[in-house]
Amino acid sequence: MARLTVRLEDRLGTISPMLYGHFAEHLGRCIDEGFWVGDNCEIPHTRGIRNDTVAALRKLRAPVIRWPGGCFADDYHWRDGIGPRDSRPRRLNLWWHAEEPNQFGTHEFIDLCRRTGAEPYICLNVGSGTPEEAAAWVEYCNCAGNTTRAAERAVHGHPEPFAVRYWGVGNENWGCGGRFYPDDYAREYRRFACYLRGRSSSPIELIACGHTTPDWNRKFLETVGDLRMVDHLSVHRYYNCGHAVEFSDTEYYNLFPRALQVEADILDAAAALAVYNKTGRKIGIIVDEWGVWHPEARGDSGLYQRNTLRDALIAAAVFDVFNRHADKVTMANIAQTINVLQCVAQTEGGTMWLTPTYHAFDLYKDHMGNAALRLDVADAPTVEARTGDGKAVQQPVLSASASLGADGKSVVLTVQNLHLTAECDCQVRLQGGKAGKVAARILTAKDVRDHNGPEAPNKVRPKRFELTAKGSMLRATLPPHSLVSARIGLSS
Ligand code: AHR
Repeated sequence: MARLTVRLEDRLGTISPMLYGHFAEHLGRCIDEGFWVGDNCEIPHTRGIRNDTVAALRKLRAPVIRWPGGCFADDYHWRDGIGPRDSRPRRLNLWWHAEEPNQFGTHEFIDLCRRTGAEPYICLNVGSGTPEEAAAWVEYCNCAGNTTRAAERAVHGHPEPFAVRYWGVGNENWGCGGRFYPDDYAREYRRFACYLRGRSSSPIELIACGHTTPDWNRKFLETVGDLRMVDHLSVHRYYNCGHAVEFSDTEYYNLFPRALQVEADILDAAAALAVYNKTGRKIGIIVDEWGVWHPEARGDSGLYQRNTLRDALIAAAVFDVFNRHADKVTMANIAQTINVLQCVAQTEGGTMWLTPTYHAFDLYKDHMGNAALRLDVADAPTVEARTGDGKAVQQPVLSASASLGADGKSVVLTVQNLHLTAECDCQVRLQGGKAGKVAARILTAKDVRDHNGPEAPNKVRPKRFELTAKGSMLRATLPPHSLVSARIGLSS
């Protein structure tokens, strides 16, 4: 019997809703078709943006969408995407080998964000752009005054500033974002950051490009020097093991340590910040691209891949890491919202279906804004797995996180049994509280390789689940490869 202790008095920090964020790039069918279908399309839409994918994100209470890339961002010139759509230029989408019609630009992105309820996060072009181009975009979006750029925004239909808060200063600038060395990027970063804040009438937060090699982060932070210019440091983490659907049991287990490497990324970035951040203010860590990138997601197929229950369980284990480090991680954005990589929904023409990963988001969404609680797990069985570099590790079969609602009256507990064949009996103790009403849901399927598609859109979806509660103790038997989310009312 595995024993979980939820410590109600031991709060680890507020789980920013932004940890459950999204990323949408001009790539494959993410923007075009996933969101944007244009004004003359039979697929139900509002101002060219399809209604079904918007409704799906609204239901998740999607907190933030990062746009326009990814690699695309450092080759994107924002003026191409404003003004009358029929006179916008057609460009090469350099990194994703396509042509970019620029029908979805800044105004369409803000419209998407307003309709989904998400905050916009715009990634600026450092690799092939200039500080002036970037600052002009900030001014165009956020200036409340009467400058020519603000007036131009009004002519295009938006007299009120967009008040975009989050601005990324480039993307993967160690790679597609300009192939910088860390100290060179740091110098560019200083130059860009110098001109951005002053152009905005509302507060903005700047996100610097970090890396999963600690050396990059340290050199970058050291050379920037004045870290008042940095609000967040971003890292990316992708992983895979075997085929998207026909993976072996061994590959299933081996994917967990690869995904959980994100915890080391967060701790490495935090360690670098602890050395260099002498400002006395917090610099957050943003994981603004993460997820499973299966071998079938290739450039020529628009990084489309099938998404099984395994991917949802992996996402849940990663959410547990984010929740555990709620004091350090300020945002995370899954790659990528619709039709690309570990997306939450897929489309074929006018048909849309939700992926198992969508349901993992749905089961975790009640953590958003709560206080993360310390959760101790004892006596959980383990399975042998191998890391990306072949090291054998004992992977606990239970992954869990718990949080306390803002009003202090309920606990959200998410717990998964990743074992492929064995049930897991769990006993949960609420230390410092008693359970009242409990409502729980479970996400599982006959086979961990099950996935949704146009013919079977609901093959993998959550169902109600029974948990027994008595005083401060709860008990449940988790089926193999399952994820449970419970909202536990606290009684006095
Ligand atoms: O998400 C696909 C690509 O992965 C992004 O464009 C890039 O930032 C990363 O390498």
